[in-house]
Amino acid sequence: MTNKIETAKTDTVLSVRDLRTEFRGDRGPVRVLDDISFDVGRGKIVGLVGESGSGKSMTALSLMGLVPKPQGHVSATRMDLDGTDLAKLSPDGLRRIRGRDISMVFQEPMTSLNPVRKVWEQVGEPLAIHQGLKRRDIRARVLEMFEMVGIPDPKARLDAYPHQLSGGLRQRAMIAMGLICEPKLLIADEPTTALDVTTQAQILRLMQDLRDRVGTSIILITHDLGIIAEMCDEVNVMYAGQIIEQANVFDLFERPSHPYTRGLLASIPKATEQRSSHRMPSIPGMVPNLAKLPPGCRFSPRCGDAMPICLQKEPGLADLGRGHNARCWLHLPHDATTQREAS
Ligand SMILES: Nc1ncnc2c1ncn2[C@@H]1O[C@H](COP(=O)(O)OP(=O)(O)OP(=O)(O)O)[C@@H](O)[C@H]1O
Ligand SMILES: [Mg+2]
Repeated sequence: MTNKIETAKTDTVLSVRDLRTEFRGDRGPVRVLDDISFDVGRGKIVGLVGESGSGKSMTALSLMGLVPKPQGHVSATRMDLDGTDLAKLSPDGLRRIRGRDISMVFQEPMTSLNPVRKVWEQVGEPLAIHQGLKRRDIRARVLEMFEMVGIPDPKARLDAYPHQLSGGLRQRAMIAMGLICEPKLLIADEPTTALDVTTQAQILRLMQDLRDRVGTSIILITHDLGIIAEMCDEVNVMYAGQIIEQANVFDLFERPSHPYTRGLLASIPKATEQRSSHRMPSIPGMVPNLAKLPPGCRFSPRCGDAMPICLQKEPGLADLGRGHNARCWLHLPHDATTQREAS
């Protein structure tokens, strides 16, 4: 019989609790991530969605140990990657894990590739770093990976330079690089935003296919709720450095419970309208400045449902069951006296 703890360990690849990231500047610290907690199940695709500046990339960089130092400061009760606490690793320890156990694919592959090195050498670099393989073996493995990610005529493409590949092929090469050491977790930060719609669909299908075949767990960062609906098992909606709603994809779309999420879903363009995959649906108002957050709920200045308490006290996460949480006073018990204190 398997005991419960073991089951939990094998089912969850990543478990993040109370992640906080701050930048310390002349004008005092600015907390860009606050109270971030979420899990990634094995073989699952977990979405991070939110407006520009909400902290999606910063969450990824915090996990990867890539938040710029010394201004940036990351703390967490726990960032457990399959038994290793990323929050406790030294810079050297993180280097050993990056590219091997956890890897990342960025929006614009051209900026993460060196223009004067052949593609195969770069895609194979994690193997050189982590497994010390010989050049011949690396080249053979890169060829296998190129085949796996569907790069046509892969042998001829090994010796190409990045500019000789189309955007879609470069992104396939980057995914090959991300997966070459068979990481436990791949983080894809807007992996298709720079691509045309057809190529975008192909890359998304490729990621789904890799998840199905290899069982890679993926954190998928996107502005696009359509992509979330199509790709993700679980979703975390971010607003001003916090997760404001998290749920499985079905519950999120069927029972959106935070007014921000409801606003986003209500403003998705209809199929008949022109759809821009690059922008979030817009809801009135602006994301607050993180250095000057409003008192109470961060969303309250834009919220049509705001009650007096929302302007006074920051809400915690309300448990709506089945792992569905919303950071909103509508779902939290609160005392009417708190409301009277305001007036
Ligand atoms: N080096 C830095 N120093 C200080 N603040 C930073 C730094 N990098 C990012 N930030 C701030 O952190 C917050 C979150 O940024 P992040 O890049 O994670 O947003 P995002 O959700 O990925 O947005 P986008 O959709 O535009 O990529 C923003 O307010 C941003 O200004
Ligand atoms: Mg980003």
